[in-house]
Amino acid sequence: MAGKTTITIDGPGGSGKSTVARRLADSLGFAFLDSGAIYRAATWFALDQGLDLTDTARVLQAMDGLSLHFEQTPAGMSVFVNLVDVTGQIRTREVSNSIFHLANSGEVRSRLIGYQQAFAQDADLVAEGRDMGSVVFPDAPLKFYLMASLEIRARRRQRELEQVGEQINFEAIKEEILIRDERDSNREVAPLCKPEGAVVIDSSDLEIQQVIAVMTGEARSRGLV
Ligand code: DC
Repeated sequence: MAGKTTITIDGPGGSGKSTVARRLADSLGFAFLDSGAIYRAATWFALDQGLDLTDTARVLQAMDGLSLHFEQTPAGMSVFVNLVDVTGQIRTREVSNSIFHLANSGEVRSRLIGYQQAFAQDADLVAEGRDMGSVVFPDAPLKFYLMASLEIRARRRQRELEQVGEQINFEAIKEEILIRDERDSNREVAPLCKPEGAVVIDSSDLEIQQVIAVMTGEARSRGLV
C-alpha cells in the first residue's frame, strides 16, 4: 500500500490506551507512539532542573537544552532525556501531577509536536494520547476514542504506581484522576476530546484482546491493513 498509515487512539488516563496501542502496533507491525511519555519526559526534565513550572518562559528556555530519544523495547518504549534513561522516573506521581503546567502551554505543546510527528515520517504508526486525532495527526485515516469507568481506571493506575514502588490509597487515586480529567478536558489548547469521526470504544468490560479485535476490524474494513 502506498504512503504511511497513522492510526490514532485518544482518551483519558487509565482508559487502557497505552497497553492497547502498543499491542495493536505489535500485531499490525506498526511503530508505536506514547505521546504522554513526551509530556512526562519534558516535565521530569524541568523538575530535575529545579525550575518553577509556572514560569513558562523559563521552562521554554530550558527546553533548548532538552534532547529526547526513544527506543522500542519488548517491554515498551524506553525514554531518554539527554541520554539518561528516565523510563521509570517519568511515571511517578510527582511528575503526573505536575505535567499540566507544561501541557497547558501552547508554546510548549508546539515545541513537542515535532517529536511526535517525526514518528510518522518513515513508519506506519499507532499514536496514543489526548490530541493525536484532533491536533497532531488530524488527517489520520482511522481514529479511536477509548474510555473506561473511573473505578477501572483507578485500579489500573494503582497497579501502574505499584510497579514504580508507590502505594497510594485508592480514593486518593480516584481523586487525582478526576483532577487530571478536568485539567485535560478543560485546557484551552488541544484539550482532550473525541476527535471528529473517531470510533468510540468503552473498555470497562472488555479484555485487551477484545478491544484490539474491534480496532483491527475497523482497520481492515477501511483497507488500511
Ligand atoms: O497518557 P499519560 O497519562 O502518560 O499522559 C500524561 C499527561 O500528559 C496527561 O495528563 C496530559 C498530557 N498529555 C497531553 O497533554 N497530550 C498528549 N497527547 C498526551 C499526554
